[in-house]
Amino acid sequence: MTATADYSEKIPNNVDLHEDRRLQRALESWQPNFLNWWESMGPTLPTEDVYLRTAVNVGREGWANFGHVAMRDYRWGIFLAERDQERQIGFGEHKGEPAWQKVPGEYRADLQRLIVIQGDTEPASVEQQRNLGATAPSLYDLRNLFQVNVEEGRHLWAMVYLLHAYFGREGREEAEELLHRNSGSDDAPRILGAFNEETPDWLSFFMFTYFTDRDGKYQLGTLKESAFDPLSRTCEFMLKEEAHHMMVGTTGIDRVVERTAQLMIENEQDDVSQFGAISLDVIQKYLNFHYSVSLDLFGGETSTNVANYYTAGLKGRWMEDRRKDDHRLSDDAMLVDAVLEGEIGQTEVSALVGLNTDLRRAYISDCEGGVKRWNKILDDAGLPQRLNLPSIAFNRKVGAFAAIEASPDGQQLSADEWTKKQGDWLPTDVDKTHVHSLMHPVYERGKIASWIAPPRNGINNQPFDYDYVHLS
Ligand SMILES: [Fe+2]
Ligand SMILES: [Fe+2]
Repeated sequence: MTATADYSEKIPNNVDLHEDRRLQRALESWQPNFLNWWESMGPTLPTEDVYLRTAVNVGREGWANFGHVAMRDYRWGIFLAERDQERQIGFGEHKGEPAWQKVPGEYRADLQRLIVIQGDTEPASVEQQRNLGATAPSLYDLRNLFQVNVEEGRHLWAMVYLLHAYFGREGREEAEELLHRNSGSDDAPRILGAFNEETPDWLSFFMFTYFTDRDGKYQLGTLKESAFDPLSRTCEFMLKEEAHHMMVGTTGIDRVVERTAQLMIENEQDDVSQFGAISLDVIQKYLNFHYSVSLDLFGGETSTNVANYYTAGLKGRWMEDRRKDDHRLSDDAMLVDAVLEGEIGQTEVSALVGLNTDLRRAYISDCEGGVKRWNKILDDAGLPQRLNLPSIAFNRKVGAFAAIEASPDGQQLSADEWTKKQGDWLPTDVDKTHVHSLMHPVYERGKIASWIAPPRNGINNQPFDYDYVHLS
Protein backbone atom coordinates (compact mmCIF):
# COMPACT_ATOMS: atom_id res chain seq x y z
CA MET A 1 0.00 0.00 0.00
CA THR A 2 1.27 3.46 -0.85
CA ALA A 3 1.04 5.76 2.11
CA THR A 4 1.74 9.04 0.35
CA ALA A 5 -0.95 10.68 -1.72
CA ASP A 6 -0.28 11.46 -5.37
CA TYR A 7 -0.95 15.16 -5.66
CA SER A 8 -1.05 15.07 -9.41
CA GLU A 9 -4.43 13.39 -9.08
CA LYS A 10 -7.60 15.40 -8.84
CA ILE A 11 -8.52 13.81 -5.54
CA PRO A 12 -5.58 13.23 -3.19
CA ASN A 13 -6.00 9.83 -1.59
CA ASN A 14 -4.34 6.80 -0.10
CA VAL A 15 -7.00 4.35 -1.24
CA ASP A 16 -5.55 3.59 -4.70
CA LEU A 17 -8.38 5.47 -6.32
CA HIS A 18 -6.73 5.23 -9.77
CA GLU A 19 -7.32 1.47 -9.74
CA ASP A 20 -11.08 1.90 -9.61
CA ARG A 21 -12.17 3.99 -12.60
CA ARG A 22 -15.88 3.80 -11.76
CA LEU A 23 -15.40 5.07 -8.25
CA GLN A 24 -12.98 7.73 -9.42
CA ARG A 25 -15.49 9.00 -11.98
CA ALA A 26 -18.29 9.03 -9.41
CA LEU A 27 -16.19 11.12 -7.02
CA GLU A 28 -14.99 13.38 -9.83
CA SER A 29 -18.56 14.12 -10.76
CA TRP A 30 -19.46 14.85 -7.12
CA GLN A 31 -16.47 17.19 -6.73
CA PRO A 32 -17.87 20.18 -8.70
CA ASN A 33 -21.08 19.96 -6.66
CA PHE A 34 -18.99 20.02 -3.51
CA LEU A 35 -17.10 23.08 -4.75
CA ASN A 36 -20.38 24.82 -5.59
CA TRP A 37 -21.60 24.06 -2.12
CA TRP A 38 -18.34 25.42 -0.63
CA GLU A 39 -18.65 28.62 -2.69
CA SER A 40 -22.28 29.21 -1.81
CA MET A 41 -22.47 27.86 1.76
CA GLY A 42 -18.85 28.02 2.98
CA PRO A 43 -16.86 30.92 4.48
CA THR A 44 -18.10 34.31 3.28
CA LEU A 45 -14.97 36.38 3.99
CA PRO A 46 -12.90 36.76 0.80
CA THR A 47 -9.28 35.71 1.28
CA GLU A 48 -6.18 35.50 -0.86
CA ASP A 49 -4.71 32.60 1.07
CA VAL A 50 -4.61 31.03 4.52
CA TYR A 51 -1.84 29.23 6.45
CA LEU A 52 -3.45 25.80 6.49
CA ARG A 53 -2.60 22.27 7.40
CA THR A 54 -3.33 19.81 4.64
CA ALA A 55 -3.46 16.07 5.25
CA VAL A 56 -0.99 14.35 2.93
CA ASN A 57 -0.16 11.08 4.59
CA VAL A 58 -1.24 8.74 7.34
CA GLY A 59 2.19 7.69 8.57
CA ARG A 60 3.72 8.23 11.95
CA GLU A 61 6.33 10.78 10.92
CA GLY A 62 4.23 13.70 9.81
CA TRP A 63 0.84 13.40 8.18
CA ALA A 64 0.28 17.00 7.21
CA ASN A 65 1.85 19.95 5.39
CA PHE A 66 1.58 23.57 6.46
CA GLY A 67 1.57 26.40 3.98
CA HIS A 68 -0.36 29.37 2.61
CA VAL A 69 -3.02 28.10 0.24
CA ALA A 70 -6.05 29.61 -1.46
CA MET A 71 -9.00 27.93 0.23
CA ARG A 72 -10.73 27.11 -3.03
CA ASP A 73 -7.67 25.11 -4.03
CA TYR A 74 -7.48 23.24 -0.72
CA ARG A 75 -6.77 19.58 -1.46
CA TRP A 76 -9.66 17.82 0.24
CA GLY A 77 -8.35 14.31 0.17
CA ILE A 78 -9.42 10.82 1.12
CA PHE A 79 -7.29 9.27 3.82
CA LEU A 80 -7.84 6.13 5.82
CA ALA A 81 -5.60 5.04 8.66
CA GLU A 82 -3.35 2.17 7.60
CA ARG A 83 -4.94 -1.23 7.32
CA ASP A 84 -4.17 -3.87 9.91
CA GLN A 85 -4.42 -7.11 7.93
CA GLU A 86 -5.00 -9.08 11.12
CA ARG A 87 -7.70 -6.85 12.57
CA GLN A 88 -10.50 -8.71 14.33
CA ILE A 89 -13.92 -7.52 15.40
CA GLY A 90 -13.62 -6.41 19.02
CA PHE A 91 -17.17 -6.74 20.35
CA GLY A 92 -20.70 -8.03 19.79
CA GLU A 93 -21.83 -11.33 18.37
CA HIS A 94 -19.09 -11.35 15.70
CA LYS A 95 -16.31 -10.75 18.22
CA GLY A 96 -13.08 -12.47 17.15
CA GLU A 97 -14.07 -12.79 13.47
CA PRO A 98 -11.99 -10.93 10.85
CA ALA A 99 -13.05 -7.30 10.33
CA TRP A 100 -15.27 -6.78 7.25
CA GLN A 101 -13.78 -5.31 4.11
CA LYS A 102 -17.20 -5.27 2.41
CA VAL A 103 -20.60 -4.33 3.77
CA PRO A 104 -22.60 -7.42 4.84
CA GLY A 105 -26.03 -7.29 3.16
CA GLU A 106 -27.94 -7.63 6.42
CA TYR A 107 -26.29 -4.52 7.90
CA ARG A 108 -26.24 -2.40 4.78
CA ALA A 109 -29.14 -0.10 5.67
CA ASP A 110 -27.95 0.48 9.24
CA LEU A 111 -24.34 1.19 8.24
CA GLN A 112 -25.45 3.57 5.52
CA ARG A 113 -27.65 5.41 8.03
CA LEU A 114 -24.79 5.75 10.53
CA ILE A 115 -22.49 7.14 7.83
CA VAL A 116 -25.11 9.58 6.55
CA ILE A 117 -25.80 10.92 10.06
CA GLN A 118 -22.09 11.43 10.72
CA GLY A 119 -21.58 12.90 7.24
CA ASP A 120 -24.44 15.36 7.69
CA THR A 121 -22.81 17.04 10.69
CA GLU A 122 -19.59 17.89 8.80
CA PRO A 123 -20.89 20.39 6.21
CA ALA A 124 -23.51 21.58 8.73
CA SER A 125 -20.86 23.09 10.99
CA VAL A 126 -19.22 24.86 8.03
CA GLU A 127 -22.61 26.40 7.23
CA GLN A 128 -23.16 27.42 10.84
CA GLN A 129 -19.77 29.15 10.97
CA ARG A 130 -19.79 30.76 7.54
CA ASN A 131 -20.10 34.40 8.64
CA LEU A 132 -17.64 34.31 11.53
CA GLY A 133 -14.70 35.42 9.38
CA ALA A 134 -16.21 38.92 9.28
CA THR A 135 -15.64 39.36 13.04
CA ALA A 136 -12.50 37.35 13.87
CA PRO A 137 -10.68 38.60 17.01
CA SER A 138 -7.26 38.07 15.36
CA LEU A 139 -5.62 36.62 12.25
CA TYR A 140 -4.58 33.63 14.35
CA ASP A 141 -8.23 32.93 15.24
CA LEU A 142 -9.34 33.56 11.68
CA ARG A 143 -6.87 30.96 10.48
CA ASN A 144 -8.09 28.44 13.07
CA LEU A 145 -11.69 28.97 11.97
CA PHE A 146 -10.76 28.26 8.36
CA GLN A 147 -8.68 25.24 9.38
CA VAL A 148 -11.68 23.77 11.17
CA ASN A 149 -13.87 24.60 8.14
CA VAL A 150 -11.65 22.93 5.53
CA GLU A 151 -11.20 19.86 7.72
CA GLU A 152 -14.95 19.53 8.24
CA GLY A 153 -15.13 19.75 4.44
CA ARG A 154 -12.60 16.91 4.25
CA HIS A 155 -14.65 14.90 6.74
CA LEU A 156 -17.57 15.24 4.38
CA TRP A 157 -15.31 13.86 1.63
CA ALA A 158 -14.39 10.98 3.92
CA MET A 159 -18.04 9.98 4.42
CA VAL A 160 -18.89 10.52 0.75
CA TYR A 161 -16.03 8.24 -0.24
CA LEU A 162 -17.54 5.45 1.89
CA LEU A 163 -21.01 6.06 0.43
CA HIS A 164 -19.70 5.99 -3.16
CA ALA A 165 -17.33 3.10 -2.68
CA TYR A 166 -19.55 0.72 -0.72
CA PHE A 167 -23.22 1.65 -1.05
CA GLY A 168 -23.88 1.82 -4.80
CA ARG A 169 -26.59 4.01 -6.29
CA GLU A 170 -28.26 4.68 -2.94
CA GLY A 171 -24.94 5.79 -1.54
CA ARG A 172 -24.46 8.22 -4.44
CA GLU A 173 -27.93 9.65 -3.86
CA GLU A 174 -27.20 10.13 -0.18
CA ALA A 175 -23.95 11.90 -1.11
CA GLU A 176 -25.97 14.42 -3.14
CA GLU A 177 -28.42 14.88 -0.27
CA LEU A 178 -25.52 15.79 2.04
CA LEU A 179 -25.00 18.89 -0.13
CA HIS A 180 -28.70 19.56 -0.49
CA ARG A 181 -29.68 19.74 3.21
CA ASN A 182 -28.61 22.97 4.93
CA SER A 183 -28.20 24.07 8.52
CA GLY A 184 -31.30 25.88 9.74
CA SER A 185 -33.20 25.39 6.46
CA ASP A 186 -37.00 25.17 6.75
CA ASP A 187 -37.56 22.59 4.00
CA ALA A 188 -34.34 20.58 4.20
CA PRO A 189 -32.65 21.05 7.60
CA ARG A 190 -29.64 19.09 8.85
CA ILE A 191 -30.53 15.84 10.60
CA LEU A 192 -29.53 16.68 14.19
CA GLY A 193 -30.89 19.59 16.22
CA ALA A 194 -27.61 21.13 17.43
CA PHE A 195 -26.49 21.42 13.80
CA ASN A 196 -29.41 23.67 12.96
CA GLU A 197 -28.58 26.16 15.72
CA GLU A 198 -26.79 29.38 14.78
CA THR A 199 -23.14 30.07 15.57
CA PRO A 200 -23.52 33.85 15.42
CA ASP A 201 -20.48 35.01 17.42
CA TRP A 202 -17.03 33.83 18.48
CA LEU A 203 -17.99 32.92 22.02
CA SER A 204 -20.55 30.56 20.47
CA PHE A 205 -17.86 29.28 18.09
CA PHE A 206 -15.50 28.38 20.93
CA MET A 207 -18.34 26.80 22.89
CA PHE A 208 -19.37 24.87 19.76
CA THR A 209 -15.86 23.58 19.10
CA TYR A 210 -15.48 22.65 22.76
CA PHE A 211 -18.85 20.99 23.39
CA THR A 212 -20.35 20.05 20.03
CA ASP A 213 -17.18 19.05 18.17
CA ARG A 214 -16.39 17.01 21.27
CA ASP A 215 -19.61 15.08 20.76
CA GLY A 216 -18.23 14.40 17.27
CA LYS A 217 -15.05 13.05 18.79
CA TYR A 218 -17.05 10.55 20.87
CA GLN A 219 -19.23 9.50 17.94
CA LEU A 220 -16.12 8.96 15.80
CA GLY A 221 -14.62 7.00 18.68
CA THR A 222 -17.52 4.52 18.56
CA LEU A 223 -17.37 4.24 14.76
CA LYS A 224 -13.62 3.68 14.91
CA GLU A 225 -14.45 0.40 16.68
CA SER A 226 -16.74 -0.68 13.82
CA ALA A 227 -16.42 -4.15 12.34
CA PHE A 228 -16.67 -2.46 8.93
CA ASP A 229 -12.98 -1.82 8.50
CA PRO A 230 -13.05 1.06 5.96
CA LEU A 231 -15.34 3.01 8.32
CA SER A 232 -13.10 2.24 11.27
CA ARG A 233 -9.97 3.39 9.43
CA THR A 234 -11.66 6.52 8.11
CA CYS A 235 -12.78 7.57 11.58
CA GLU A 236 -9.41 6.83 13.09
CA PHE A 237 -7.82 9.32 10.73
CA MET A 238 -10.56 11.92 11.25
CA LEU A 239 -9.91 11.80 15.00
CA LYS A 240 -6.38 13.07 14.34
CA GLU A 241 -7.77 16.24 12.76
CA GLU A 242 -10.45 16.52 15.43
CA ALA A 243 -7.76 17.05 18.10
CA HIS A 244 -7.05 20.49 16.62
CA HIS A 245 -10.76 21.41 16.70
CA MET A 246 -10.84 20.48 20.40
CA MET A 247 -7.75 22.64 20.97
CA VAL A 248 -9.42 25.63 19.30
CA GLY A 249 -12.42 25.33 21.63
CA THR A 250 -10.50 24.61 24.82
CA THR A 251 -7.94 27.37 24.44
CA GLY A 252 -10.53 29.76 22.99
CA ILE A 253 -12.59 29.55 26.18
CA ASP A 254 -9.35 29.66 28.24
CA ARG A 255 -8.52 32.98 26.63
CA VAL A 256 -11.99 34.48 27.09
CA VAL A 257 -11.96 33.51 30.78
CA GLU A 258 -8.41 34.81 31.18
CA ARG A 259 -9.31 38.21 29.72
CA THR A 260 -12.49 38.46 31.81
CA ALA A 261 -10.60 37.54 35.00
CA GLN A 262 -7.92 40.11 34.24
CA LEU A 263 -10.50 42.90 33.84
CA MET A 264 -12.42 41.79 36.95
CA ILE A 265 -9.26 42.12 39.04
CA GLU A 266 -8.15 45.39 37.43
CA ASN A 267 -11.52 47.03 37.92
CA GLU A 268 -12.54 45.26 41.11
CA GLN A 269 -15.97 44.36 39.79
CA ASP A 270 -17.80 41.37 38.31
CA ASP A 271 -19.49 43.16 35.45
CA VAL A 272 -16.85 43.70 32.78
CA SER A 273 -19.24 44.45 29.92
CA GLN A 274 -18.41 48.18 30.01
CA PHE A 275 -14.73 47.31 29.45
CA GLY A 276 -15.41 45.58 26.14
CA ALA A 277 -15.38 42.07 27.59
CA ILE A 278 -17.80 39.29 28.52
CA SER A 279 -18.87 38.85 32.14
CA LEU A 280 -18.50 35.44 33.75
CA ASP A 281 -22.26 35.00 34.22
CA VAL A 282 -22.73 35.39 30.46
CA ILE A 283 -19.92 32.91 29.76
CA GLN A 284 -21.73 30.50 32.11
CA LYS A 285 -25.00 30.96 30.20
CA TYR A 286 -23.33 30.22 26.87
CA LEU A 287 -21.71 27.17 28.44
CA ASN A 288 -25.11 26.00 29.77
CA PHE A 289 -26.65 26.33 26.33
CA HIS A 290 -23.95 24.59 24.32
CA TYR A 291 -23.46 21.80 26.83
CA SER A 292 -27.16 20.99 27.06
CA VAL A 293 -27.79 20.96 23.29
CA SER A 294 -24.68 18.80 22.86
CA LEU A 295 -25.98 16.29 25.44
CA ASP A 296 -29.05 15.93 23.23
CA LEU A 297 -26.79 14.65 20.44
CA PHE A 298 -26.22 11.44 22.42
CA GLY A 299 -29.89 10.50 21.98
CA GLY A 300 -32.11 8.91 24.61
CA GLU A 301 -30.69 7.35 27.79
CA THR A 302 -31.80 3.98 26.46
CA SER A 303 -31.92 2.80 22.88
CA THR A 304 -32.66 -0.61 21.41
CA ASN A 305 -31.28 0.56 18.05
CA VAL A 306 -27.92 1.27 19.61
CA ALA A 307 -28.05 -2.08 21.44
CA ASN A 308 -28.58 -3.75 18.07
CA TYR A 309 -25.75 -1.77 16.45
CA TYR A 310 -23.44 -2.95 19.21
CA THR A 311 -24.45 -6.59 19.01
CA ALA A 312 -24.08 -6.48 15.23
CA GLY A 313 -20.60 -4.95 15.52
CA LEU A 314 -21.47 -1.70 13.72
CA LYS A 315 -20.69 0.73 16.53
CA GLY A 316 -18.67 0.02 19.67
CA ARG A 317 -18.03 1.80 22.93
CA TRP A 318 -15.59 4.60 23.64
CA MET A 319 -12.21 2.89 24.20
CA GLU A 320 -13.74 -0.54 23.61
CA ASP A 321 -10.43 -2.38 23.90
CA ARG A 322 -9.70 -0.93 27.32
CA ARG A 323 -12.95 -2.20 28.82
CA LYS A 324 -12.53 -5.13 31.14
CA ASP A 325 -15.62 -7.18 30.37
CA ASP A 326 -16.74 -9.75 27.81
CA HIS A 327 -17.39 -7.12 25.05
CA ARG A 328 -20.78 -8.72 24.40
CA LEU A 329 -22.67 -7.35 27.40
CA SER A 330 -25.63 -9.67 26.86
CA ASP A 331 -25.90 -10.53 30.59
CA ASP A 332 -24.87 -7.16 32.08
CA ALA A 333 -26.92 -4.39 33.60
CA MET A 334 -26.27 -0.71 34.28
CA LEU A 335 -27.89 2.33 35.87
CA VAL A 336 -29.11 5.08 33.57
CA ASP A 337 -30.42 8.55 34.39
CA ALA A 338 -34.19 8.76 34.54
CA VAL A 339 -37.14 10.64 35.96
CA LEU A 340 -38.62 8.47 38.73
CA GLU A 341 -41.91 9.49 40.32
CA GLY A 342 -41.21 13.06 39.35
CA GLU A 343 -37.67 13.04 40.75
CA ILE A 344 -34.36 12.99 38.88
CA GLY A 345 -32.84 9.59 39.62
CA GLN A 346 -31.49 6.41 38.07
CA THR A 347 -32.98 3.18 36.89
CA GLU A 348 -31.44 -0.20 36.02
CA VAL A 349 -31.52 -1.41 32.42
CA SER A 350 -29.60 -3.98 30.39
CA ALA A 351 -26.10 -2.73 29.61
CA LEU A 352 -26.75 -3.00 25.87
CA VAL A 353 -29.79 -0.78 26.01
CA GLY A 354 -27.92 1.82 28.09
CA LEU A 355 -25.01 2.34 25.68
CA ASN A 356 -25.98 5.94 24.85
CA THR A 357 -25.69 6.73 28.54
CA ASP A 358 -22.32 5.01 28.70
CA LEU A 359 -21.00 7.18 25.88
CA ARG A 360 -22.54 10.33 27.29
CA ARG A 361 -20.85 9.69 30.64
CA ALA A 362 -17.45 9.44 28.99
CA TYR A 363 -18.22 12.72 27.25
CA ILE A 364 -19.36 14.43 30.46
CA SER A 365 -16.22 13.50 32.33
CA ASP A 366 -14.19 14.87 29.43
CA CYS A 367 -16.17 18.14 29.60
CA GLU A 368 -15.43 18.35 33.32
CA GLY A 369 -11.78 18.63 32.35
CA GLY A 370 -12.48 21.89 30.54
CA VAL A 371 -14.37 23.37 33.48
CA LYS A 372 -11.47 22.45 35.75
CA ARG A 373 -9.02 24.27 33.48
CA TRP A 374 -11.16 27.40 33.30
CA ASN A 375 -11.65 27.38 37.06
CA LYS A 376 -7.89 27.12 37.52
CA ILE A 377 -7.53 30.29 35.45
CA LEU A 378 -10.00 32.02 37.81
CA ASP A 379 -8.24 30.59 40.84
CA ASP A 380 -4.81 31.68 39.60
CA ALA A 381 -6.19 35.17 39.09
CA GLY A 382 -7.27 35.15 42.75
CA LEU A 383 -11.00 35.10 42.02
CA PRO A 384 -13.51 33.06 44.06
CA GLN A 385 -16.03 32.63 41.19
CA ARG A 386 -16.30 29.27 39.42
CA LEU A 387 -17.86 27.90 36.23
CA ASN A 388 -19.94 24.70 36.36
CA LEU A 389 -21.49 22.11 34.08
CA PRO A 390 -25.27 22.26 34.55
CA SER A 391 -27.28 19.19 35.55
CA ILE A 392 -27.97 16.62 32.81
CA ALA A 393 -31.67 17.42 33.28
CA PHE A 394 -31.19 21.10 32.41
CA ASN A 395 -32.64 22.42 29.11
CA ARG A 396 -32.99 19.02 27.48
CA LYS A 397 -35.04 18.35 24.36
CA VAL A 398 -34.14 14.68 23.90
CA GLY A 399 -34.45 11.70 26.25
CA ALA A 400 -35.78 11.21 29.76
CA PHE A 401 -35.54 14.87 30.76
CA ALA A 402 -37.23 16.35 27.70
CA ALA A 403 -40.56 16.17 29.50
CA ILE A 404 -39.49 18.11 32.59
CA GLU A 405 -37.85 21.45 33.36
CA ALA A 406 -34.89 21.62 35.72
CA SER A 407 -32.53 24.26 37.06
CA PRO A 408 -28.76 24.00 36.42
CA ASP A 409 -28.36 22.43 39.87
CA GLY A 410 -30.91 19.74 39.06
CA GLN A 411 -34.01 21.04 40.88
CA GLN A 412 -37.20 20.21 39.07
CA LEU A 413 -39.28 23.26 38.13
CA SER A 414 -42.82 23.95 37.00
CA ALA A 415 -43.26 25.34 33.51
CA ASP A 416 -44.02 28.74 35.03
CA GLU A 417 -40.90 28.80 37.18
CA TRP A 418 -38.84 27.78 34.16
CA THR A 419 -40.26 30.60 32.05
CA LYS A 420 -39.48 33.10 34.80
CA LYS A 421 -35.97 31.84 35.53
CA GLN A 422 -34.54 30.69 32.21
CA GLY A 423 -33.06 34.10 31.43
CA ASP A 424 -30.79 33.64 34.47
CA TRP A 425 -29.39 30.46 32.95
CA LEU A 426 -29.51 30.75 29.17
CA PRO A 427 -28.28 33.67 27.02
CA THR A 428 -30.99 36.34 26.74
CA ASP A 429 -31.40 38.69 23.80
CA VAL A 430 -29.62 41.33 25.87
CA ASP A 431 -26.66 38.99 26.47
CA LYS A 432 -26.50 38.00 22.81
CA THR A 433 -26.72 41.60 21.66
CA HIS A 434 -23.88 42.57 23.97
CA VAL A 435 -21.67 39.68 22.87
CA HIS A 436 -22.51 40.53 19.27
CA SER A 437 -21.58 44.19 19.84
CA LEU A 438 -18.05 43.12 20.84
CA MET A 439 -17.46 41.24 17.62
CA HIS A 440 -15.30 43.64 15.63
CA PRO A 441 -12.78 42.13 13.26
CA VAL A 442 -9.11 42.53 14.12
CA TYR A 443 -7.10 41.78 11.00
CA GLU A 444 -3.86 43.49 11.92
CA ARG A 445 -0.89 41.16 12.53
CA GLY A 446 -0.21 40.61 16.24
CA LYS A 447 -3.32 42.50 17.38
CA ILE A 448 -6.20 41.06 19.39
CA ALA A 449 -9.79 42.04 20.22
CA SER A 450 -10.64 43.51 23.63
CA TRP A 451 -12.69 40.55 24.91
CA ILE A 452 -10.08 37.79 24.58
CA ALA A 453 -6.46 37.21 25.62
CA PRO A 454 -3.86 36.33 22.96
CA PRO A 455 -2.91 32.63 22.64
CA ARG A 456 0.20 31.31 24.40
CA ASN A 457 1.44 29.66 21.23
CA GLY A 458 1.01 30.16 17.52
CA ILE A 459 0.38 27.46 14.93
CA ASN A 460 3.13 25.07 13.84
CA ASN A 461 5.74 26.99 15.86
CA GLN A 462 4.93 30.27 14.16
CA PRO A 463 4.55 33.31 16.42
CA PHE A 464 1.18 34.87 17.27
CA ASP A 465 1.93 37.85 15.00
CA TYR A 466 2.58 35.66 11.95
CA ASP A 467 0.69 36.52 8.74
CA TYR A 468 -1.71 33.59 9.06
CA VAL A 469 -4.23 35.00 6.59
CA HIS A 470 -3.94 37.30 3.59
CA LEU A 471 -7.26 38.97 2.95
CA SER A 472 -8.21 39.81 -0.58
FE1 LIG B 1 -15.60 16.64 11.60
FE1 LIG C 1 -14.52 18.83 14.09
